[in-house]
Amino acid sequence: MPKVLDELRQDHRNNARLWDLLDREMKVFKEGGLPDYDLVGNILEYCLNYPDLFHHPKEDLIYQRLKDRDPASGNIVGDLEQEHAKLTALTRRFSNALKNVLEDEQLPRDWFLDVANDFLNFSRNHMQMEEVLFFPAAHKHLTADDWAEVEAASKKVGDPLFGELINEKYQRLFDEIDEWGKMEEEKAEAS
Ligand SMILES: [Fe+2]
Ligand SMILES: [Fe+2]
Repeated sequence: MPKVLDELRQDHRNNARLWDLLDREMKVFKEGGLPDYDLVGNILEYCLNYPDLFHHPKEDLIYQRLKDRDPASGNIVGDLEQEHAKLTALTRRFSNALKNVLEDEQLPRDWFLDVANDFLNFSRNHMQMEEVLFFPAAHKHLTADDWAEVEAASKKVGDPLFGELINEKYQRLFDEIDEWGKMEEEKAEAS
């Protein structure tokens, strides 16, 4: 497995944990409770500052290579760059909606839920498509030189939340993910 693909898959597993946390908080909101808005905001900030800036561009480089090597696979995957642009737009929309909610604007609760669901559904579908269609096709058609080029062209930036050095602004989020993971493990063991 090319190292770049391994890293992208790990990013997906990490992102899935964040989306589970968002689900948990939005469920609280849906039931009329007070969600942890700080946590929601922190997750969205991370999404705009790491996946949007480093994960998607890496995938875009691979996608360009794939289209050269096997145009049919490119067609099956669809317009990946456009999906990434939409993901960024949905993340910004969610982040702006959160700011409005925090400024106490009178917004329909259903609207905020829809904004969150649009983000979560699109993100999950996109990731699923990449795991099922895009990554296997790239693995099959890209050459060792292609992978080396992608690797060389990718920006080397440590993940500020799941990497070796955690940025202090994400420390609370990191602890929350850790705690949530342990609770899920205990639940799985008990069932
Ligand atoms: Fe992607
Ligand atoms: Fe991805």
